[in-house]
Amino acid sequence: MTTLSTLNKFKKEGTKFTCLTCYDAMFARMMDKAQIDTILIGDSLGMVVQGHDSTLPVSVDDIAYHTANIARSNEHALILADLPFMSYVVLPEAIANSRRLMQAGAHVIKIEGGSELCDLVTTLAQAGTPTCVHLGLTPQSVNVFGGYKVQGRSEQAADKLLDDAKAVVGAGAAMLVLECVPAALAKAVTEAVEVPVIGIGAGADTDGQVLVMHDMLGMTHGRVPRFVHDFLTDERNTQHSIEGAFALYKQSVTEGSFPASQHQFD
Ligand code: KIV
Repeated sequence: MTTLSTLNKFKKEGTKFTCLTCYDAMFARMMDKAQIDTILIGDSLGMVVQGHDSTLPVSVDDIAYHTANIARSNEHALILADLPFMSYVVLPEAIANSRRLMQAGAHVIKIEGGSELCDLVTTLAQAGTPTCVHLGLTPQSVNVFGGYKVQGRSEQAADKLLDDAKAVVGAGAAMLVLECVPAALAKAVTEAVEVPVIGIGAGADTDGQVLVMHDMLGMTHGRVPRFVHDFLTDERNTQHSIEGAFALYKQSVTEGSFPASQHQFD
C-alpha cells in the first residue's frame, strides 16, 4: 500500500512515481494491477464523465460518490480526492467537506490555489487530514485566467508560484501538484520543497507525474494538450490493452522516458 511515507522515500531516492485520475471500480482494479502509485478522483470528472465544459459544476457529492467507488476496489494506491469549486472558501464548510471525502475513502484532500490556503492547510493537517495543493494552471480558476493557459511564464508570476509553494508547504501541505508551468520553474519548485511534487505539463523533473486517464487512453474531447501521450496505441503496448497502457505509463515514468521534451513547456 502506498502511503505519504512511501512517496517521501521515493522523493529522497529519486524514484519517480505515477498518478492517474480514476472514477470507477473497474479502472481502479486495472490500475492496481499495474501498481499505479496514486489515484486522483479529480474534478476533471465534470468534463470526462459528466460532459460539462469545465470542472465548475462538480459537487462534493459527486467526488464523494466516485471516491467511495474507488476506495472499495483499491488495494495499492494512495487515494487523492479533489475538493470541488467553491467548496473550501469558508473554513467550516471546507472542514465538513474534507471530512466527507476522507470518510468516503480519500487519504489526501487536493485543493487549488496558493498562499491564501495556508490557514486551511494547517487546520486540516492538525485534524489528521493531509492536503495536496494544486498550483499553476488551476482549472477551477479558468474564468480568472481567461482560458486554459500555461502559468508562471513571467519572472513575477514564477516568483509568486515559488513563494506560494513554499508557503503552503510551510503551513503543512503534504504534497503539491503543478499543472502547465514551464519545466524550469517546476524543477525549481520540486527542489525547493521537501514534499513530493506531481507534475502535469510541468516537465520531467517533478517527483511524480499525473495524467487524466481518458487522455492517456487516447480519449480526448477536442484539442489534445501538448503534455498528453496516448499509451493505448503506443506500439510498446504489445498487449494492445488498457492494462497494458497503464503498465507502459508506469514503466515510462519510472524509467524517465515520459514526459519527453515535446510534452513540456519552456
Ligand atoms: O481534476 C483533475 O483531473 C486534476 C488533474 C489534472 C491534476 O486536477
